Amino acid sequence: MTKIGHGLPPILRSATADLLTKYGPLLFDWAARHGSPLNLVWPDALRENLAALKGVLTERRVEHAIYYGAKANKSPGLMQAALSAGAGLDVSSLYELRDARRLGADGARLVATGPAKTSAFHQALINCNALISVDSPEELEDLIHGLPADAGQQPILLRLRPRDQSKSRFGMPPDAIVHCLVRLAGEGRLRFDGLHFHLSGYRRETRVAALSEAADLIAEARRMGFFPGMIDIGGGLPIQYVDRARYDAHLAAQAPEDYRTGKIPDSFYPYGSTLSAADWLHRLLEAEMNQGRSVAGYLAREGLTLAMEPGRALADQAAITVFRISRVKALGPDSHVIFAASAPAKLGSPPNS
Ligand SMILES: Cc1ncc(COP(=O)(O)O)c(C=O)c1O
Repeated sequence: MTKIGHGLPPILRSATADLLTKYGPLLFDWAARHGSPLNLVWPDALRENLAALKGVLTERRVEHAIYYGAKANKSPGLMQAALSAGAGLDVSSLYELRDARRLGADGARLVATGPAKTSAFHQALINCNALISVDSPEELEDLIHGLPADAGQQPILLRLRPRDQSKSRFGMPPDAIVHCLVRLAGEGRLRFDGLHFHLSGYRRETRVAALSEAADLIAEARRMGFFPGMIDIGGGLPIQYVDRARYDAHLAAQAPEDYRTGKIPDSFYPYGSTLSAADWLHRLLEAEMNQGRSVAGYLAREGLTLAMEPGRALADQAAITVFRISRVKALGPDSHVIFAASAPAKLGSPPNS
């Protein structure tokens, strides 16, 4: 029987493949010197991924703002690479925000799009005037209560929950967005910059549908006297982790007994994407939105900036983690538990494998 995972090698760029295949002893040496797990990062890979996305946006003359979703890999090396290449950072906690500030990012380069924000995180975002995506009317009230009386204008986005995501816990339905706009009309300390969404799944069609809903709300907001200038499509750009055909074969070879639940899950993460993130973005910009207009055409006509927070698609091929395996325990003829050593080795101690 085909074993799960058998014949499903990761797609690796040549520098990483060479390190793993030709320079294995170096990895043992580094793990012994620095401890296990050991994170290795290639900031240039993130810069290449970013350049590919920016190339597509520039070619289609789309005003854009790309923020690296730092939660995908919080390595300061990768965050710094994103900043030095002209991107911003999407921070999802007070600690990520502090790291970003230590790296020299000012508020104009920062956005916080995650739904879980403590009041301390809100305050720190307000202090540097970072863009905040507001997830709910409740969060809006909390934010308003935390604003200093003499605050300047704090920029915000409102997070939309598109109709076809009605089961999602994140964002707000269109009527709640309008409710927030009414609330904002009487609150001079907040500036409504536009709409945000982040969808599960990787289908372009759901993004196009969400963009159409966002377009209606942008028009409504403008009728109400606001000046939104941005639609933020979140992250979720695809990554090519493994070969598509092999992934399909892997999925087809699964059996209910491979799972403790005795049931094959209904859906799987698309590890075997056929498209690169850049090709996916290109097709998104070309997609027809409404009345025969492409997404790129709509954004240009409305003078809107397209923002996004790719995490994994920017970190793709930019990092590996080396674990020392301390023991392999057999559970059955073809299943094993692998124990990975996590205690840091003492500096200078010899590799024990
Ligand atoms: C709000 C938000 N934006 C962006 C991202 C990054 O997603 P991805 O790594 O799939 O690009 C996430 C990931 O969970 C998220 O929750």
